[in-house]
Amino acid sequence: MVSVAIMGHGVVGSGVAEILLTHKQKLFSSLGEEIYIKKILDLREFPDSPIAERFTKNFEEILNDIEIRVVVEVMGGLNPAYDYVKRCLKAGKSVVTSNKELVAAHGAELLALAKEENVNFMFEASVGGGIPIIRPMNQCLVANNVGEVAGILNGTTNFILTKMIADGMQFADALKLAQDLGFAERNPAADIEGHDACRKICILASLAYGKHVYPESVHTEGISGITLSDVTLAKSFGYVIKLIGKVKKLESGKIDILTAPMLVPLKSQLSNIDYEFNGIMVRGDCTGDVVFYGKGAGKLPTASAVVADVVDCCKHLKARRFLFWADGDGSNIISYKDSVSAMYLRVSGEDAEAKVQTAFGEISTAWSDGELAVLTPELRYGEFQEICEALENDGIKILSSIRIGDI
Ligand code: HSE
Repeated sequence: MVSVAIMGHGVVGSGVAEILLTHKQKLFSSLGEEIYIKKILDLREFPDSPIAERFTKNFEEILNDIEIRVVVEVMGGLNPAYDYVKRCLKAGKSVVTSNKELVAAHGAELLALAKEENVNFMFEASVGGGIPIIRPMNQCLVANNVGEVAGILNGTTNFILTKMIADGMQFADALKLAQDLGFAERNPAADIEGHDACRKICILASLAYGKHVYPESVHTEGISGITLSDVTLAKSFGYVIKLIGKVKKLESGKIDILTAPMLVPLKSQLSNIDYEFNGIMVRGDCTGDVVFYGKGAGKLPTASAVVADVVDCCKHLKARRFLFWADGDGSNIISYKDSVSAMYLRVSGEDAEAKVQTAFGEISTAWSDGELAVLTPELRYGEFQEICEALENDGIKILSSIRIGDI
């Protein structure tokens, strides 16, 4: 029998406990031993739980219990998760987390600590919810040089955008629905403003390129500025708007990484990924494109990935599963202003078409309610900003601008 503890009994934590209890037999046949939940840490009371007597409000009870070999951190946020995880690793316990904020902020340090203590630190659930992505990238695709990773990494925003595209639903109503369904972060600004997706692409970039990428080094835009007009106009050009996290290795050896809404061509596999589903494309030099698809948010999908890590840790109590990247200083990342893409923009103003054409050269256009939508050729983002500034000085109002994803 292996004793484990779960820190946090919210949406994901209660899902982890549920799977460990309801799938006991299934997990026993995989591990050859029982996984026993010895303690659950939460400040709230859960008198109706079938294991109510195993709840504690005291972290030290978990830390000081030498029988507990694996600790699951599903509290979310940095505090006290960061401190508790460090102390568990230092105490010789393996740690499994679904906390992308923690991994994106402190992954390199926690991986180094796990290595030092000869234990495991695993976080399959931190990216893509129930989709296997960390383990496949770390093991199955290890023979590849990864040229690019691009994904729809946030279920809440994908749910909102799908509702806007498919049902013409207003942004706020779609967000409320996503929150009611349990997809959203405690503070949904992390979803809406792109920070959650940014943390996830940082984790994948760190894994793909071996150096920690901190969210502060990554240009991030959310979806709060996307309107029903943009969604409709994008559709008329043959695109859907999706929030994309993307990292690409350039010939210089540096990486181009950002999180932003993008126009995704209908022929792209990512264009059909809807509602709370996530999709991640990994471009390997041997495999070509490999696409991972599934539920990226929600109680049981996310808990399923956590439990898989728990089983892996239990199977390797005396051996390390090699998962590691070094710390990074951001020097391998290009400025977002040097990133190249074609752009969509929506403008209004006198002689808009002629002025925009003169500014960008060859463009595709569509009109809607007196507003002009334009697709530009590829250009550096910094150059695009300078042209937009000049157009505004010439009386053109820029109503929105969105990158066109080459994915
Ligand atoms: N809020 C996140 C999402 C949860 O919507 O994708 C899963 O990380």
